[in-house]
Amino acid sequence: MKTLKILLAWLVAGLLLIQLIRIEVPNPPKAKPGDEIQAPPKVMAILKRSCYDCHSNHTEWPWYSDIAPISFEVRSHVKNGRNWLNFSIWNQYDEEKKEKLYKGIAKSIDWKMPPPDYLWVHKEARLSPEERKLVKEWAMSQLQKEEH
Ligand code: HEC
Repeated sequence: MKTLKILLAWLVAGLLLIQLIRIEVPNPPKAKPGDEIQAPPKVMAILKRSCYDCHSNHTEWPWYSDIAPISFEVRSHVKNGRNWLNFSIWNQYDEEKKEKLYKGIAKSIDWKMPPPDYLWVHKEARLSPEERKLVKEWAMSQLQKEEH
């Protein structure tokens, strides 16, 4: 019993200590309006609802994103997500990168994105099959445009 108490005390102390480790992933300054991706309103609404937390400069940080070790996970998601694809600076990408990303969107929207563990806590970001189809078709149509 006593060992258990000591163990618990260490655990609590450890959890408190790691709160000191802060990983800062600040929201970058709002991009110029012309840099943001343009899409039909319905697609835009989906992107904003389900992708913008990780793929834009407009991340809404939930309260628990300040609590370690959850903060490590959440912040690395956003940092990584933005590195791959940032809809806020879309028009700074060259055509080659845009093409690659349209392909990536069409592919990842089937199941990979938004990430399942994110959807688990963000029910509002869940997409219906129709919504996934809409995004997919939009990305494919953009691809065809790029090719001409
Ligand atoms: C919880 C954060 C998060 C959300 C929300 C999210 N993504 Fe991602 N996304 C990531 C991360 C992290 C990566 C980096 C690569 C990886 O982990 O697979 C990524 C990578 C990507 C890539 C490039 C990689 C590839 O497979 O081609 C595309 C495209 C993408 N996401 C599209 C989307 C779209 C579209 C949405 C919304 C429907 C979305 N993501 C929502 C975190 C997120």
